[in-house]
Amino acid sequence: MKNILVISYSQTGQLNDILDCFLIPFKGVEIDRINIQPREEFVFPWISSVFFDTMPETVLEEKIDLMPYDFRANSYDLIILGYQPWFLSPSLPISSLLQDSKFLAVLNNTPIVTVIGSRNMWINSQISVVNRIESAGGRIVANVPFIDRHQNLLSALSILHWMLTGKKERKWGFLPLPGVSRKDIESAEVLAEPVTQALHKGDYLGLQERILKKKLVDIHPSILFIEMRAKRLFIFWANLIKRKSINTKKRNFWVAMYKYYLIFALFVVSPIVLAVYTLLVRPIIWSSIKKNKEHFLYLGIER
Ligand SMILES: Cc1cc2nc3c(=O)[nH]c(=O)nc-3n(C[C@H](O)[C@H](O)[C@H](O)COP(=O)(O)O)c2cc1C
Repeated sequence: MKNILVISYSQTGQLNDILDCFLIPFKGVEIDRINIQPREEFVFPWISSVFFDTMPETVLEEKIDLMPYDFRANSYDLIILGYQPWFLSPSLPISSLLQDSKFLAVLNNTPIVTVIGSRNMWINSQISVVNRIESAGGRIVANVPFIDRHQNLLSALSILHWMLTGKKERKWGFLPLPGVSRKDIESAEVLAEPVTQALHKGDYLGLQERILKKKLVDIHPSILFIEMRAKRLFIFWANLIKRKSINTKKRNFWVAMYKYYLIFALFVVSPIVLAVYTLLVRPIIWSSIKKNKEHFLYLGIER
């Protein structure tokens, strides 16, 4: 019997719902499922100041303590790593897991499928996750990202409302329901079918292509455009905040500066830049966008 490890973190339970659906086709497979927990829990709903204050350590991928966890086996036929991006980086519990020697040891020589439960920006975090998996001797064989498909600004507003109030509702009646839609969560079952077939055959070549053929996973060009530019700014702010934070008062001041910058960049600058880009630049560089999309959809995966 094949044995797999499914390891993940979920703060609100959204990623657990996605993984529950993803695991439906894994019949007759021994599943070791681990939900990791930080030693110091990230309280949900978030207090606004704590939410933004989490950025520097997340972006710099500083390790936090996790609650102890145990594997039922010494090795697995396949590992499914479920994670979410925070500030264009793997969430703190996940980047810490990816620096934990116990987990790194089990990754070695093992095929890995990443399942991402994001808002809509997962590329930068996946770059980091793939690098860490590859350095540990693991082999990425597929990546299945789930996103909120609503317009970027509407989805940013609705997820902020969800994160800061804990209410998964249509704020003001016109904002969309926050997070990955129920329909997309349920589609995880369909996306997992090629993974189970590959697991049983022990052959993962062509798996990502079969997943993408389902036409449920894609990268929107404007999201690609933002992701290609924004991470640098996050790293700049993370380092600036760390450097300037000689006491709590200073840290609070610089985190607030970053928060206002982020709101301004997201709601004022990005719509203007994106409009110019979409109308004037995108049509000219369409083939390079296509190449970039393909590159990120297959990141680290042998074809
Ligand atoms: C602090 C924080 C930062 C986030 N940053 C991003 C991000 O950069 N990109 C993104 O697509 N989603 C982002 N999200 C949304 C999460 O990836 C995720 O979809 C949401 O938190 C629900 O995940 P859960 O399963 O942990 O509850 C962020 C969420 C939090 C709490």
